[in-house]
Parts: sequence; C-alpha cells; structure tokens
Amino acid sequence: MFAAVAISQNPTDPLSGLHLQDVPIPEVEPGWSRVRVIASSLNMHDLWTLRGVGHPAEQLPRILGCDAVGYDEAGRRVVVYPVIASPDRGHGDETLDPQRALLSEQHDGAFAEYLTVPTRNLLPVPEELSLDEAACLPVAWGTAYRMLFTQAGIRAGDRVLVQGAGGGVASAAIKLALGAGATVYATSRSEDKLALAEEWGARGIPTGGRVPERVDVVVETVGEATWAHSLKCLRPGGTVVVAGATSGMNPPADLGRVFYLQQRILGSTGCTLVEMRGLLRMMAATGVRPVIDRTMPLSEIHKAFQLMIDGELAGKVVIHPPTPEGAPA
Ligand SMILES: NC(=O)c1ccc[n+]([C@@H]2O[C@H](COP(=O)([O-])OP(=O)(O)OC[C@H]3O[C@@H](n4cnc5c(N)ncnc54)[C@H](OP(=O)(O)O)[C@@H]3O)[C@@H](O)[C@H]2O)c1
Repeated sequence: MFAAVAISQNPTDPLSGLHLQDVPIPEVEPGWSRVRVIASSLNMHDLWTLRGVGHPAEQLPRILGCDAVGYDEAGRRVVVYPVIASPDRGHGDETLDPQRALLSEQHDGAFAEYLTVPTRNLLPVPEELSLDEAACLPVAWGTAYRMLFTQAGIRAGDRVLVQGAGGGVASAAIKLALGAGATVYATSRSEDKLALAEEWGARGIPTGGRVPERVDVVVETVGEATWAHSLKCLRPGGTVVVAGATSGMNPPADLGRVFYLQQRILGSTGCTLVEMRGLLRMMAATGVRPVIDRTMPLSEIHKAFQLMIDGELAGKVVIHPPTPEGAPA
C-alpha cells in the first residue's frame, strides 16, 4: 500500500526525512482491527516527529499521521481515538498512562491506505458529520475539548482568550467555546485569520494586542510568543490551559503575577476515549464543525507540510490516501 513514512529526522530540513513509498498492508493482531483509511489530517505533531522533537530516532521508520477515519472490516464509518493506552494504568484516564502513545509514535499511523489499532479505539462517526470533518477531530479537537471542558471547566458566559487563531487546536477551541456559550477573544498575526475568527463569532485581536476585559480562561498552544500576554489578560483566579508551545518552551514564568493574582496554570494533553465520545456528541448536537483549510491527496503531503511550516493554514488540511485496488471508491 501507498504510505508517507518518516525515515529520518532533521531539525532544519524536516521534509527531507519524509518518503512516499509502498509498504506491506499491516497484519491484524488479536484485539486490534484494520481500518481502510478514507481521510486523515495534518498536525504539528507530525512535523515535530520529522524535526526529531519528542520522538526517538529508534522508532523510525514510522508511517506518520495521528488522525484517521475510514471503514472498519464490517464496512462501518469509524473515527480512530488516537491515544493507544490503558485507562487502568492511568488511574481511569488514558492520557495519564505513563506508557501512552499517540498514533504514529509507537505504531504506524494514518498517512496510508490502511492502519491497524486496538478495536476499543474505534468510534462510530455520527451521521451528521462527513468523514473529512471527522478526520479533523481526534488530535486537535480532542485536545481543545479536554482543555476547555475538563481542565478549565468553562461555563456558558465565561470569557475565553484563544491564542493563535489559525492553529488546528486554536480554531477548534474558538468554535467549541462559542458552541458552549462563551464570549471568545482570539489573537492572530494574520488579518485574514482574524477576519475568519470574527466570522465564526469571536472577537479578533492582533497578537499581543489589548483585550477589552480580563478573561476567565486562556487557551495557550503558542508558547513563548504569547505567554506574557496570556498571563496579563487573565483575571485574578483565572486559568491558563496550556497544551503546546509552537514558538518556544521557556518564556519568563512571571511568578509574581501568578501567585499574587492566584492564577492557575494547567497542562493538558490529548483527551480520553470518554471525552472523544463527548466531543462527537457535541458536534452532532450543536452543528459546530471543524475548519477545513483544504483537502489534498497523500501524494502531495510534502506541499501540505510546507503550508503548515509557512503558517499559511487557517484550520486543518485533510489528506486523502488513494483508493486501494479493488476497493469501492
Ligand atoms: N498536548 C497535546 O495533546 C497537543 C495536541 C495537539 C497539538 N499540540 C501542540 O499545540 C501546538 C499547536 O498545534 P496545532 O496542530 O494547532 O498547530 P498549528 O495548526 O500549526 O498552529 C500553530 C499556531 O500558533 C500560532 N503561532 C505559531 N508561531 C507563532 C509565533 N511566533 N507568534 C505568534 N503565534 C504563533 C499561529 O497562529 P496565527 O498564525 O493565527 O498567528 C499558528 O496557527 C503545537 O505545539 C502542538 O505540538 C499539543
């Protein structure tokens, strides 16, 4: 089958290590299922792997792609919950399992015609959602859902600031927070992305700009470039939830502000299977939908990565593998 495989890592030329090649169709282990992939989507995580961040070189070669939807062996529309982990080892929460692995870390991922995953990781795609829409959800939307509803515990009427409106997680957080009845401010470096955020119902603020009121919750995935602003915009007792640091991991901590204003800083990673079910139900019930910047064939995945590297995307890029020989289109 045709697949995009990470064969080496390079911090300055990450795409040189990504090869399109034919690989064997994966065998199915007991307790696992094979999925014919119809759509996947790109995440920063795929780029980190190619840059050699957070992914040991011994794990290569590895088929990339953390988000997958397709058909299971019974022909059902399924979306893959992307955390391969044991809730028991994580005290009931897969994301706290010390041995957890995101799809494409220790097991081959979704940029291929087929993949195999534990059968418990397959969830039905609600009929209200298209497969392309569902392909955007597992990593970015699952992460945003946990950040907002589990970690920060937002309620209708809360004021939420989302940094970096164009990002996959950030655009999900904007739409989910609006769907939950929050007032949402969203920052971006790009006027076009601010206009888009306003179209969705948020109030756009240029990166680092003045927010008209202190907020209850900040959604942080940008890191160094926005951290000081995030703390300044937070009301006393408010919460910053952080799930990423694209622009750098080590901003000044500003501890005086944190303790004097009793700000809460919470880390967040991925989501549980239960949260992913909640996300799918919320999407079906509210009509909230992911932002798809564009769809591209797997054969053009290098171009898709370049758009992400250049910050040209607003929302998600959906990737379509070729239809396997003999399979229905
Ligand atoms: N913990 C988890 O489970 C988890 C899950 C998913 C992602 N993440 C992490 O979260 C981060 C975002 O992931 P993503 O997939 O949403 O990435 P993405 O789609 O590439 O979004 C990154 C966004 O950050 C903003 N940004 C980047 N560099 C910036 C800078 N120098 N100054 C200001 N803004 C900047 C941009 O917003 P504008 O262009 O609008 O300014 C960009 O759209 C990544 O670090 C990723 O590894 C973590």
